[in-house]
Amino acid sequence: MSSRLFSFNGTILVPPTGIAHVNGEEWTLQRKLVVPELSKLKLVPTLYSWVNPTIKNNLLPILYNASKQNISVDLQNLMIRFGTENIFGFALGKKLRTLTTELPEDPLALAIDTTVQSFFKRLFYPNFMLKFMRFFSIGCERSLMKNHQILNNYITEALEERNRRKDETSDDDLLWTLMKKVQVNGHILPNSAIMSTILDILLAGHDSVATSASWFFWLVMNNPRVEKKIVNEILTVLKKTRGKDSVGSKVTDSIELPREEEIQEWMEESLSYEEINSLVYIHATLLETLRLYPSFPRMVRYAIFDDILPDGTYVPAGTDVILSLYSVGRMKSVWGEDCLEFKPERWLTADETRIERPEDGYMYAAFSGGSRTCIGKYLAFLEMKSVASAILLRYKLSPVPGHQVLPKLFFTLSMKNGLKVNLKRRDLAAIL
Ligand code: HEM
Repeated sequence: MSSRLFSFNGTILVPPTGIAHVNGEEWTLQRKLVVPELSKLKLVPTLYSWVNPTIKNNLLPILYNASKQNISVDLQNLMIRFGTENIFGFALGKKLRTLTTELPEDPLALAIDTTVQSFFKRLFYPNFMLKFMRFFSIGCERSLMKNHQILNNYITEALEERNRRKDETSDDDLLWTLMKKVQVNGHILPNSAIMSTILDILLAGHDSVATSASWFFWLVMNNPRVEKKIVNEILTVLKKTRGKDSVGSKVTDSIELPREEEIQEWMEESLSYEEINSLVYIHATLLETLRLYPSFPRMVRYAIFDDILPDGTYVPAGTDVILSLYSVGRMKSVWGEDCLEFKPERWLTADETRIERPEDGYMYAAFSGGSRTCIGKYLAFLEMKSVASAILLRYKLSPVPGHQVLPKLFFTLSMKNGLKVNLKRRDLAAIL
C-alpha cells in the first residue's frame, strides 16, 4: 500500500515529488538523504540555534507580560507560531518573527496554513470536481495553487541564493545540507525533489508539534498529580546539573534543598540537550498525550494492488483505507480497562526511571510504523520537551473559566476554540 500524508481519493499534491508522497526507489533515496539530518545528534544545533532562542527571546516574554497584566493567552495559537518558527529555522534557516506580543501574521506562515486547509477541503470533493476547479482556477484549487506558488517561489529563491554564495556559507539548515549532499553525490536529486521535500517537512512540522503540545498542556493542567511529578522531575534534573553548594562548587548528590534565588539562577538559561534527554516522566506524559490525542488522528493508505487485511477483509486495488489512530488509542482490547485514563506511568518501568514501550510496536502508531514511520519524531520530542519544561517550571496554567476545549475535524487534531489559559507565576518553594 502507498502512503498518503496529504492526499486522498486518488488526488495528489502539487508536485508529488517530496518525501511524504513519492514511493519506490525515489522515496528510498530521499529518506536516505533526509533521515540522518533528523537523527538525535544532528538536531543538537537546531535546539541551540532555533528552539531555545525562540523560547527565551519570544515565547517567555509574551507569557511574562500576560501573567503580569493578568490577561489570558491562547496557548494553541502560541504553540502553532512556536512550531512554525522552529520548522522554518530547521528547514530553511529563516526566522519568521511571528512570535512577538503583537502576534503579527507572516505571508509564509499564512501560506502554509492555507495550503493545508485547501488539502483538507479537497477531501469533500469528488475527483472530477477538483479537476474542474483546477481547470477554471476556482475554489480550494485556486487557493491551493496560489499558496503553493508563494511557498515554491520562496524556496526557489532560497535555493538560488545558496547557489550564489555556496563557497562562503556555513549554514546548517536542511535546504543547504541537501544541496551539498546532492553536489557531493553528483546530482542525484533534482532541485524540484529537494524543494518538494522541504515543502513536505514544512507542512508536516508546522502544526503537528503545536497540536500535541496544546493537548499536553490541557491534560497536565487538569491533572495536578501529573503536573507535580513533572515539575519535580525538572527540578531534580536541574539540581543535578546546575546545583551548587554553599561554596559554589557543583553538587550532584546533595539532599539539601536549593534556595529560591538559586532556582531563579537555574532558570536563566533554557535546558541543555543533555538535560532534556534526562526528562523521562515528561517523555512518558507526551507519549500518553499522543495516545489519547494523536496529532494525525487518522492515516490513509491507498491499495495499489488487491489486498487482504489481517482480519480477512478484502481490499480491492484503488481503495483508500483509513485507520483511526484516535480510536485505536482508546480501545480496551488494545490498552486495557483503564484505556480512557490519562496515565503517563503506563509508559514507564516499575521504578519509573526508563521508558518501557509496548512489545508490539504497532499498538502505538502516533508516529506511524514500519518503514514509513515519521522522520521528524526526535525533532518533535525535542521541541515539545523544551517548551513543556520552560513553561511548567515558570507558570501554573489554568483554563479560562467558561472556555470550551473541543477537538476540531482536520488533518491534525487541533482544538476548535484554541486553548485559552491564565498564567500564574509558579511558587516553586511550595513544591520543594
Ligand atoms: C508530534 C509531532 C508529530 C507526529 C505525531 C507525527 C506523526 C506522523 C505520522 C503519523 C506520519 C505518517 C503519515 C502517513 O504515512 O500517512 C508522519 C510522517 C512524516 N512526518 Fe511526522 N509527526 C510529527 C512531527 C513531525 C515533524 C516535526 C516533522 C518534520 C521534520 C515530520 C515529518 C514527517 C515526514 C516528512 C513524514 C513522511 C515520511 C515518509 O513518508 O517517509 N513529522 N508523521
